[in-house]
Amino acid sequence: MYFFIAGALLCAVAGALPVGNSTEYEYVIIGSGPGGGSLAANLARAGHSVFLIEAGSDNGDSILERAPFCAEASWEFFVSHFQNETQARRDNKFTYRLNNGSYYVGLEPPEDAEPLGIFYPRGATLGGSAQVNAMNMALPPDEEWQIIADLTGDDSWLPSNIRTYYEELERNLYMPENTPNHGFDGYIPVTRNNISYVTSRPGVSAVVNEAIRRLEGIEVESEEHLADLLERDMNTADPQRYERPGAYQIPLHIDERKRRHGSRNFIVETLNARDEHGSPLYPLTLSTNSLATRILFHEQKECGRKPRAYGVEYLHGEAMYAGDRRYDPSQTGELRRVKASREVIVAGGAFNTPQILKLSGVGPRQELEHLDIPVVVDLPAVGNYLQDNYESAVSIRANTPWENNPYADCTFDPTLPSEDPCLSLWLNDGVGPYGEGAAPLALWYRSSVSDNADADIYFFGSAGAEFRGHWPGYSQAQVPNTTFFWSMVKMQVGSQAGTVTLRSRDPRDTPRIDFNFFNSHEERDLQALAEGVQFAFDVFDAVGEPYAPYEVVEPTPGVDLRQDIKDHVFSHHATSTCRMGPKDDPDYCVDSEFRVNGVEGLRVVDGSVFPRTPGAFPVAPTFVISQKAFHVLEAGLKNEERGR
Ligand SMILES: Cc1cc2nc3c(=O)[nH]c(=O)nc-3n(C[C@H](O)[C@H](O)[C@H](O)COP(=O)(O)OP(=O)(O)OC[C@H]3O[C@@H](n4cnc5c(N)ncnc54)[C@H](O)[C@@H]3O)c2cc1C
Ligand SMILES: *[C@@H]1O[C@H](CO)[C@@H](O)[C@H](O)[C@H]1NC(C)=O
Ligand SMILES: *[C@@H]1O[C@H](CO)[C@@H](O)[C@H](O)[C@H]1NC(C)=O
Ligand SMILES: *[C@@H]1O[C@H](CO)[C@@H](O)[C@H](O)[C@H]1NC(C)=O
Ligand SMILES: *[C@@H]1O[C@H](CO)[C@@H](O)[C@H](O)[C@H]1NC(C)=O
Ligand SMILES: *[C@@H]1O[C@H](CO)[C@@H](O)[C@H](O)[C@H]1NC(C)=O
Repeated sequence: MYFFIAGALLCAVAGALPVGNSTEYEYVIIGSGPGGGSLAANLARAGHSVFLIEAGSDNGDSILERAPFCAEASWEFFVSHFQNETQARRDNKFTYRLNNGSYYVGLEPPEDAEPLGIFYPRGATLGGSAQVNAMNMALPPDEEWQIIADLTGDDSWLPSNIRTYYEELERNLYMPENTPNHGFDGYIPVTRNNISYVTSRPGVSAVVNEAIRRLEGIEVESEEHLADLLERDMNTADPQRYERPGAYQIPLHIDERKRRHGSRNFIVETLNARDEHGSPLYPLTLSTNSLATRILFHEQKECGRKPRAYGVEYLHGEAMYAGDRRYDPSQTGELRRVKASREVIVAGGAFNTPQILKLSGVGPRQELEHLDIPVVVDLPAVGNYLQDNYESAVSIRANTPWENNPYADCTFDPTLPSEDPCLSLWLNDGVGPYGEGAAPLALWYRSSVSDNADADIYFFGSAGAEFRGHWPGYSQAQVPNTTFFWSMVKMQVGSQAGTVTLRSRDPRDTPRIDFNFFNSHEERDLQALAEGVQFAFDVFDAVGEPYAPYEVVEPTPGVDLRQDIKDHVFSHHATSTCRMGPKDDPDYCVDSEFRVNGVEGLRVVDGSVFPRTPGAFPVAPTFVISQKAFHVLEAGLKNEERGR
């Protein structure tokens, strides 16, 4: 299962895709994730020449990346949740480096162990983190778009307009084709798990039925009734949808053969498209194994204008970044340059986008000067306002196994033996448990301290699996078939005080990442999560025998609940390090058209731009803003033409 095996494996590196040798393109884009990758393919399909720079390689054809049950090829960051070291080290996921180079994870490290922090994976491969994620494709509450429209005064961010971008990119595989407000021929397939894997499990159904009774006041009468309730559409366009707590099924970015699908596929399809003479149809050039190190600027003071981005410098070579497991500082790669006749677009994700901007002289003056980086523009918002959903786990061991475990016959053997029945089902027929998302259950829960009428906690869960955050080796952890876990994702988070700062001016170094969790609204957010935990226990208690009595693994029995939530809180949806807001306000990084304040020819199009972490899962909103950015760029060009 994804949670067991993710990150554990290193795949053979696929051959690099062809790299053109012309040195000027209309657009140079850094990063091929949901933000940058989709935009690159869209622009090329509209006839623009694009050079796409991706630090990782393409592993997308490997079984390990395509099968939803596992994931691999990621950069390893170690982050800080709390600057208070005593608090930080109360987390049993806190990781240290031992003298002999191996990791120690836990509460009793040897005295001379070097504290590293909390493990935080990111996908560094063609397609970005969407190649290693859990594929949950959930649209956020409409309020998240309203916040941007209000902040910027730009009505094109109103929720009703934003929905049209989702319709364009979605290839819905789970609703009837005439369903309004869904797309059926976009480039991201969206489907759901096979509902029978939930409804055919009496114990699991009992838990979900009880949750529905408590959240919605509905008595579930049969397997079919439960299936009907779970199959209500979470991603309906109804603006009030988050006001209806209840149980749902999570849509996933998976295709009809139950294979992972994201911007990586859109890029490869765009590169492979041929005209009748066999020539490439679209002017897209991809450079993998290429770490962008600096954006190049022209001073334009003499003409009274802001500095203009005209190109990018990058290191060509495998594993150039220190976050890569294969990193070897003695391999120096080859420094190359590429020029952009129109614009440079940064889409390195919430940790790397601010790092690239700062290395290029765009960021807080003091920090840049301290490292002798020439300041192009003093922009304090870069690398500030880092935030993330808070996740807390509830994990129990029931008195008896949860029956009809669909994974019972699967080997989960990372060498993928052909005699694994689950593997052959998935490979040959595109069905079976290996094609399922790992957390088939979802609940919307509204705590008493939600900002508004919306649910503020998104539960996802499963029986026979466990997810309680990341640490080195988390993916190999095995759990018994009596396990039931919920991960509760707190939306509307209060603290926006995280930072990404440079450790050095070496672009191969990872930055320092401080989340400063609970910096504000601590009481409120702990209260919400504590209510969520209580709800989960109330449901288990009501289900009762034969699953009860159960053993509690998390939260830690006997410890004050709020303290325990604080000690073990985790996250993997970082955003907002180049947040969007009013034009030319240095407290914001980009304007409503993704343009970086204080310079010309430079935009950011990735999860960094959200002023607040959008809902529980950022990947769908990131695909959506990428689609929006494509329209913004096209509209800009049309205006230019008209002006001529
Ligand atoms: C383990 C895990 C599970 C997740 N599960 C979910 C989920 O189920 N649902 C959900 O909505 N979200 C999930 N997420 C988060 C989601 O995948 C990300 O929010 C999303 O991919 C962000 O898109 P992005 O384009 O901003 O950045 P990314 O997807 O991170 O892409 C950035 C790309 O830029 C490249 N890059 C970075 N720096 C450079 C450089 N200097 N030069 C060249 N290239 C560079 C990287 O290699 C990467 O390919 C998960 C994330 C992780 C890590
Ligand atoms: C670009 O590549 C082509 C084909 O490999 C080669 O013939 C040409 O000389 C190259 N041009 C430059 C400027 O390197
Ligand atoms: C640091 O955290 C510990 C553990 O939560 C707490 O007891 C202590 O008061 C904190 N110190 C400060 C200065 O806040
Ligand atoms: C390093 O030391 C630890 C603790 O002594 C030990 O468990 C581990 O196996 C060692 N690792 C290697 C690679 O030698
Ligand atoms: C769902 O899974 C069941 C087995 O639990 C299988 O019989 C059925 O064909 C599957 N349906 C689909 C659409 O894959
Ligand atoms: C649960 O796991 C135990 C121990 O591995 C095994 O003996 C048993 O058959 C499993 N039961 C079910 C219902 O999967």
